Amino acid sequence: MKLQNVTVAYGNKTVLRDVTLDFPKGDFAFLIGGSGSGKTTLIKSLIAEMVPKSGTVTDHSWRVVSGLSGKELAKFRRSIGVVFQDYKLLPSKTVRENVAFAMEVSGYPDSKILTRVPEVLSQVGILSKKESFIDALSGGEAQRVAVARALIHDPEVIIGDEPTGNLDPENAMEIMRIFERLAHAGKTVIIATHDDKIVNRMKKRVVALKDGRVVSDSKNSGYSL
Ligand SMILES: Nc1ncnc2c1ncn2[C@@H]1O[C@H](COP(=O)(O)OP(=O)(O)O)[C@@H](O)[C@H]1O
Ligand SMILES: [Mg+2]
Repeated sequence: MKLQNVTVAYGNKTVLRDVTLDFPKGDFAFLIGGSGSGKTTLIKSLIAEMVPKSGTVTDHSWRVVSGLSGKELAKFRRSIGVVFQDYKLLPSKTVRENVAFAMEVSGYPDSKILTRVPEVLSQVGILSKKESFIDALSGGEAQRVAVARALIHDPEVIIGDEPTGNLDPENAMEIMRIFERLAHAGKTVIIATHDDKIVNRMKKRVVALKDGRVVSDSKNSGYSL
């Protein structure tokens, strides 16, 4: 995915300024920056939830994402798996039901759901908990379920907005290792975080934002603003 000279505003408040970034296939990039620096807004622009005031966001097929609608937009959204800090799972359903429900809503046939759910649950190492209720899981387990759900459409891009914000360091690293494996398998991984320890341990590309501007972009890097 690419952002080219992207400027985004809420009303007359500009929160992203002339951002140009390329996230090639298989890339693993951290998006760092203090609270209010524009990380979430950048993610919303990537997933076509926000339309830039100027500049363009293009997907892997060079399509301008803000120009998509209807079926094309739905297809684009399925090509991106998003994970949030608060998991956004249905607490009174089981692990299996959470993932199956997301597939039902997307119109998959039961036969496909039956085979795909255990696949994604094993990809994140949580198949043994498939009949557990979300309420009974640890934070690390719940986030793995959320990652499994993000994988149902076999997306090209995985995006996390502070996905380890509620996790202890050990569980946070486990989630990062899952993202790392997905990037090795060719998926583009973009993770917004202000967890300096994790970023320093992973030694990946780090894009730093300050007041809506990209102030640095370096490979095999650490957390510095
Ligand atoms: N819905 C909104 N309306 C107006 N301003 C917003 C809205 N959402 C975010 N902002 C502002 O945009 C700026 C960037 O926010 P955000 O992208 O959420 O930053 P981050 O995720 O890095 O904390 C902040 O100043 C924030 O207050
Ligand atoms: Mg944010």
